[in-house]
Amino acid sequence: MTFAKITQVAHYAPQQVISNDDLAKIMDTSDEWIASRTGIRRRHISQTETTSELATHVAEELLQRSGTDASELDFIIIATITPDSLMPSTAARVQANIGAVKAFAFDVTAACSGFVFALSAAQKLLEGGSYRKGLVIGAETLSKTLDWSDRRTAVLFGDGAGGVLLEKSKEQHFLAESLHSDGSRGESLSSGVAALDSPFSEKGEDDKFLKMDGRAIFDFAIRDVTQSIIHLLAESGLPAESVDYFLLHQANSRILDKMAKKMGIDRQKFPANMMEYGNTSAASIPILLSECVQNNLIKLDGSQTILLAGFGGGLTWGSLIVKI
Ligand code: ACO
Repeated sequence: MTFAKITQVAHYAPQQVISNDDLAKIMDTSDEWIASRTGIRRRHISQTETTSELATHVAEELLQRSGTDASELDFIIIATITPDSLMPSTAARVQANIGAVKAFAFDVTAACSGFVFALSAAQKLLEGGSYRKGLVIGAETLSKTLDWSDRRTAVLFGDGAGGVLLEKSKEQHFLAESLHSDGSRGESLSSGVAALDSPFSEKGEDDKFLKMDGRAIFDFAIRDVTQSIIHLLAESGLPAESVDYFLLHQANSRILDKMAKKMGIDRQKFPANMMEYGNTSAASIPILLSECVQNNLIKLDGSQTILLAGFGGGLTWGSLIVKI
């Protein structure tokens, strides 16, 4: 049997940091409102770097830290809803930047669940037995999709990237998963609407801006996502106590508070960094994972069990339980 294992983690964010007070200078908001409703205090906003450039930093660091040559990579998967272009994909750009000549590369579009979906797909690629090493990276420049005159969304998001090196292993590390989508509720969170446009079609209306029904997404997270995590733990026979940390998508600290309470799990087991990054969609979980390793909370020595859970646009949601 062949299994997959996370062997290295890394993250990167643009240097420019925009505080809530900075935002209050350009829109009708306040540090008090943003911090008390979301937990967010700052976010990184790119001045020049594109999504593929943020992801390239992460890829280079993953290779350097693990002593891996780019030519050893079999695949690169980038989860993003803010690609530099639809074609070439962000993953193909990263492949060229790092010279991963042997790797096939593609993007996954599943919003804030993108990293979890991509990691699950990558695990299956390795467990198929034909591949040995690959990168899975979540990278976003959400700042380019925001309507900076809309205080209901502009204050919530940020730019950044995080990722993992996944390698073939003799032991099982991915213990259980549960992945979901509900396109019928998709309209509560949208961005990048591209209308038909040809001499042979009616001209529709483009809308690049991110739109969100915050209340609906909040309720969805508390109800559907919490329920799916509870089911996954029950089905897999892994009691919540056996999970060392719950690394959830970083949208709002109140969501984490309510989820922890509903699951009856100590809030200390839910690390958070949305105060520094805001919501970075597909990048939020790998940035958090990388910071947890940096802070020695997660040791990366195979001794701990973590649950990764993403939720957001699509709607999409999903969890992985991983020995790390
Ligand atoms: N500053 C000041 N006031 C504001 C701001 C702001 N930035 N934004 C909204 N308000 C005002 C509103 O105008 C409203 O005022 P009104 O009552 O006079 O109309 C009031 O604050 C309350 O607004 P609500 O939208 O009801 O605020 P709510 O308490 O629901 O909080 C929030 C909004 C933070 C967005 C919350 O709903 C939330 O976190 N939702 C979940 C978001 C999420 O999880 N997203 C994840 C997926 S993202 C992805 O996939 C890309």
